[in-house]
Amino acid sequence: MNNSGKNHPIKIHTFPEKSSAVIKVADEIETLIKSRSSKQQKTVLGLATGSSPIALYQELIRRHRNNKLSFQNVITFNLDEYSGLQPDHPESYWHFMHQQLFNHIDIPQENIHIPSGTVATADIASYCQDYEQAIRDAGGLDFQLLGIGRSGHIGFNEPPSDQHTRTRQVTLHPITREDAAPAFNGLDHVPTKAITMGVATVLDAKRIALLAWGQAKAEIIAKTLNQAPSPEVPATYLQTHPNTAFFIDHEAASGLSTPC
Ligand code: GLP
Repeated sequence: MNNSGKNHPIKIHTFPEKSSAVIKVADEIETLIKSRSSKQQKTVLGLATGSSPIALYQELIRRHRNNKLSFQNVITFNLDEYSGLQPDHPESYWHFMHQQLFNHIDIPQENIHIPSGTVATADIASYCQDYEQAIRDAGGLDFQLLGIGRSGHIGFNEPPSDQHTRTRQVTLHPITREDAAPAFNGLDHVPTKAITMGVATVLDAKRIALLAWGQAKAEIIAKTLNQAPSPEVPATYLQTHPNTAFFIDHEAASGLSTPC
């Protein structure tokens, strides 16, 4: 079965350069934060790591500095973390998020949530349930930012992950570990497991924005949009979400047959 083209509700926004794409996404985030803050409401953002969101985080930092975009009323939940890494490990997502965003904005430390890489095995199930509960207690995700892995993962929901999955520990796909190997100075140093929000956790977000840049993402973007939802390409479940948009550059869009 082919669910290609116009059947899915995902809006595809293509740009010649990621620099213009991240302006659009930053506009959306800024409007959301300001509109909710004006009503004394917090904004709950689901955040992603990887190279894809870095330019967006730089743009948000720029707006914080120049336009006084405040993150005082923002609560964040990160998608995932490598198991076995201390927060101060240079490749931990805790470290990444602080380096790339949190150290440069005015978000209260207590509003930041990143899955821990150091939970004892016996405690992981209850830790993951608590993470889900914390998202619900915050009022649910208003906006979820995503990248996409070449395995078709969102967060670290590796194939096979279905639409009912929740926050849990997973085993990383060989492609994911291979892609991470240079940053870890070799495959042997790449963790084998991670904690990730589930596909269902992501799909509960009111709004989802996926970023993808470059030729290396063209094949998986095409599969994500053209294949029927299945655990083999977890990102395909985004087709079932009513308010998802992809912000991708022309290279990442190059595997799509129909112009967007
Ligand atoms: C990691 C993260 C994902 C991210 C992916 C893509 O696997 N867990 O959330 O989407 O990397 O990374 P990049 O943006 O560097 O291509």
